[in-house]
Amino acid sequence: MFKRVPGTRDILPEEIAYWQKLEAVARKVFSLYNYKEIRTPVIEESALFSRSLGEFAEIVKKQMFLIKNKEDSYVLRPEGTASIVRAYLEGNLDKSGRFSKFYYIGPMFRLERPQKGRQRQFHHIGAEAIGSSSPWIDAEIIMVADAILKADQITGYSLNINTLGCPKDKLALVDMLREELKGKLGGLCQECKERFKHNIIRILDCKKQECRKVVKGLSIQDKHLCGDCRQHFNQVKRSLDAEGLSYEVNRQLVRGLDYYTRTVFEFKHDSLGAQDALGAGGRYDNLVKDLGGPQVGSVGFAFGVERLLLVSDLKKHGPQREVVFIIVLGDRAKDAGARLLSGLRAAGIAADTDYQEKSLKGAMRLADDLGSDLVLILGDNELEKNVVIFKDMRRGKQEQINLEEVVDKVKEKIET
Ligand code: HAM
Repeated sequence: MFKRVPGTRDILPEEIAYWQKLEAVARKVFSLYNYKEIRTPVIEESALFSRSLGEFAEIVKKQMFLIKNKEDSYVLRPEGTASIVRAYLEGNLDKSGRFSKFYYIGPMFRLERPQKGRQRQFHHIGAEAIGSSSPWIDAEIIMVADAILKADQITGYSLNINTLGCPKDKLALVDMLREELKGKLGGLCQECKERFKHNIIRILDCKKQECRKVVKGLSIQDKHLCGDCRQHFNQVKRSLDAEGLSYEVNRQLVRGLDYYTRTVFEFKHDSLGAQDALGAGGRYDNLVKDLGGPQVGSVGFAFGVERLLLVSDLKKHGPQREVVFIIVLGDRAKDAGARLLSGLRAAGIAADTDYQEKSLKGAMRLADDLGSDLVLILGDNELEKNVVIFKDMRRGKQEQINLEEVVDKVKEKIET
């Protein structure tokens, strides 16, 4: 028997209801904030990501699913931001000069070692606001993300924020880190020794014990920030304060992708263990320009859907019980049963029947598995009397009603 590829999952019908609920909640929140949906292909040119995320970003170095043929090098998208900026430019949306707010829901691919909360195919719910450098939009993006968590009734999460500053500030940070870390290289993990050469900022958020110890001893605070970047960050904080959103400023939050400038943030949930980020994002003021467009500021975020589902209470509420189940007994009742089924569906009522010729007991079990609150039984005897047996499973009641009245009666029951 074939098995699914490691690090991927089948979402079977029993689970899909939670995904749909989560997606519906996100769509509702996005529409309240006037974010419009965008869908881009799952394959892109690989250079799009090496240019955007940085040649030395872990994702680019180790985690890209490459698809190569003689002429082309494509990749399964590891994230959405670069694709959306590409689509924004290719669709000439920059030419309108208008500020654009997008949201997206879809699969992403990273060639990682699978573990809890870390897969090779996972899903993002994310948003990108392209064309504004205003700190108020940083705050809005964070508020949208927070509103999605609240609407999903997720509790127990925390929000960390930081600012990396503008590209000049980032260079100043790199210089400071190089100076401070050069005498402490022996205490770092092998990977961070490599990062010291090409991706030094990432050392700050290495999760390894030995590196955390070294990083704790560094004196880096916000000395590398210029006046404008400080002001920008102060306004973001003021806006979050005004909304009553609690957050912690974490100077070691740096994120793994090169495109970030200024504000970065992460929503964490302790119950997730090692992979504790529910979602993350930040500002990327140079990406549009780097990909051939105008110099416009942008900011966005993405949640990992699988991780949201791990911490959400949605599953506790069980599946929705809303399918009416018809049990037809005897050959003569079959046509009338089929007509009844069509009549219910035409009236907008979800209905189903047993196609396996089960006994009454077996069919009742099937109805129960489906979570049907209403079961209609139609046998040859009932057909002769022009009635059906109407079983209200929730109230444990049963009655006979006229065939012609069934649809109205079911509607009435469903609405009460
Ligand atoms: P990211 O932090 O790489 O950011 O991914 C966002 C979220 O996706 C993570 O916080 C995590 O919940 C989830 N995630 C990432 N990798 C995996 C995985 N292998 N398995 C399961 N879940 C995963 C971005 O991708 C940026 N594009 C976010 C952004 C949007 N920044 C600005 N705009």
